[in-house]
Amino acid sequence: MNSQQPHGLPLPNTAIAFLWRYVTLRPWHFATLFLLIVGAASCAVAVQFGMKLLVDAMAQGREAAGHVWPPFTVFIALIVVENVFWRSGGYLGCRTVVASCADLRIDLFNHLTGHPMRYFSDHFAGALANRISSAGAAAGSIYGGLAWKIIPPCVDFIGAVVVLFTVRLSMGVALIGAVVVVATLITVMGLRGRSRHIDFASQAARVGGELVDQVSNVWTIKAFSARHRERRRLEQAIGVEAKAQRRSWIYLEKARVLHDICLSIMAGGMLGWSILLWQDGQITPGDVVMVSALSFRILHGSRDLALALVDTSQQMGVIAETLRIIVQPHALSDSAAELVPGRGNIRFIDVSYSYADGRGAIKHLFLDIPAGQKVGIVGPSGAGKSTLVSLVQRLDDVRSGVILIDDRDVRSVSQDSLRRQIAVVPQEPALFNRTIFENIAYGQPDATEQQVLDAARHAYCEEFIRDLPEGFNTLVGERGVMLSGGQRQRLGLARAFLKNAPILILDEATSALDTASETKVQMALDDLMRGRTVLAVAHRLSTVARFDRILVLQAGTIVQDGSPDELRHRKGPFQTLWQAQGMELGKR
Ligand SMILES: Nc1ncnc2c1ncn2[C@@H]1O[C@H](COP(=O)(O)OP(=O)(O)OP(=O)(O)O)[C@@H](O)[C@H]1O
Ligand SMILES: [Mg+2]
Repeated sequence: MNSQQPHGLPLPNTAIAFLWRYVTLRPWHFATLFLLIVGAASCAVAVQFGMKLLVDAMAQGREAAGHVWPPFTVFIALIVVENVFWRSGGYLGCRTVVASCADLRIDLFNHLTGHPMRYFSDHFAGALANRISSAGAAAGSIYGGLAWKIIPPCVDFIGAVVVLFTVRLSMGVALIGAVVVVATLITVMGLRGRSRHIDFASQAARVGGELVDQVSNVWTIKAFSARHRERRRLEQAIGVEAKAQRRSWIYLEKARVLHDICLSIMAGGMLGWSILLWQDGQITPGDVVMVSALSFRILHGSRDLALALVDTSQQMGVIAETLRIIVQPHALSDSAAELVPGRGNIRFIDVSYSYADGRGAIKHLFLDIPAGQKVGIVGPSGAGKSTLVSLVQRLDDVRSGVILIDDRDVRSVSQDSLRRQIAVVPQEPALFNRTIFENIAYGQPDATEQQVLDAARHAYCEEFIRDLPEGFNTLVGERGVMLSGGQRQRLGLARAFLKNAPILILDEATSALDTASETKVQMALDDLMRGRTVLAVAHRLSTVARFDRILVLQAGTIVQDGSPDELRHRKGPFQTLWQAQGMELGKR
């Protein structure tokens, strides 16, 4: 998978840069939205000025009643224009924000699937999925918060200062001073609270992951009468989360209290001051109405603003946490070069590999498999057989050495083009909760219906598919739970038939079949293997007895290498295994 996004740039890993990226992807939408909101908020301030004109006109007494109508007209017109702006902004905002949140979730998913398999063994699948959804929701609330709760009070504030300057310079300055003090307080509190919000977000994600793990292992829970134990375990996890949530919430409440106190003092002060000025005859009644209306507006607006800021910093925490987990650079580099379909020659040159815990799984391995050779890999459990075949697919990079396919280093070609050359049937084929047809066609998205049906027939799937209530259109349940292990394996084989790749990897591909179906499937496999390079991991030697070559793997090294005939007659682990499985020495 390419680490670059379809839009061309890698994903930023800080929350602000990440959010900004989706603004720059729709610059005209966001710019227009911004102008509409600024326009609407400006009208809202101007309405207060209209009110002042109206009051002053009325204060001139009944004789001058004619003067009342022009300010009245201005007042009404401003209200109409303000609402037109708000509604157009609402219409545009809804389209823009929804589209941006859709894009960003898709980008996150795209980046996520580019991580190597080891990343997915380190993280809960449920937690990862939750993170993408909650980052989408958080981004939506940040964009929405900016548009409806943060920008409007800021415009209000600027407008109010300008208008207050017309009344009295010192009033404008006082308003600026008060708001600066409050803004600083709230910002400092918001910043100090971030760690609490991030902590809450990560605990919540952990509980989500834990829940998914428990629900998907419900069979084990029942089998071991562990409902009570699991409940206690969940209680504990939720307890930790609840504590983090309380800390984050109480912090918000404290910020709210502080804000309310500051602004009540400010609004009361401004009103008292303007009444004193009016008593002195320095300002008109209209000015008093306007000053008090504006002060209360700022009071309300800035409460919204403060809450939105704190909320935004909380949502930023959610996004930052998601980015920290998901938007790490991909551990596997990807190349633009395509692996040209070849014959399927595989070479390992001094390859070593270990998992994250540092235990060596493959040690200094040399191997040359000519195109078209059929190689069986046997050896005790944990010997590194699955690891070896996963390295051919480049599910992770080797620690040292090189793996060549058709003389190209697997790291020098794109992962997609590499994997197009390899069909894999794993021990437990993972199925999507989609129809049987879709699951088989996954091997080759452009396959015709006939090709899919042929593949199913070749893998001996038809008989059981016919018995299913809706045949090929039956949904198989999560990860294929509605099918038996052997049925799943046959679907895995059908996929491989359809994929038609030069290299075929079978990791215990027939282990879940009964002997009768195995014989049948084995015949189908013989067909499938013709003309391909095959790497087949097997515990049952009967499956590899007719192969060209056998590798015996022990603790990450090849201890025996030769044709089945040779190895059977040579003293060593293969002979021991052969005898243990009750196979005759002379023939298969
Ligand atoms: N994701 C992983 N993380 C850490 N260690 C792993 C991981 N997968 C496998 N291992 C370790 O690597 C070693 C080789 O495992 P591998 O799965 O390749 O064995 P195998 O030969 O396929 O065994 P089996 O026949 O049981 O399938 C084992 O010691 C195993 O514990
Ligand atoms: Mg294995």
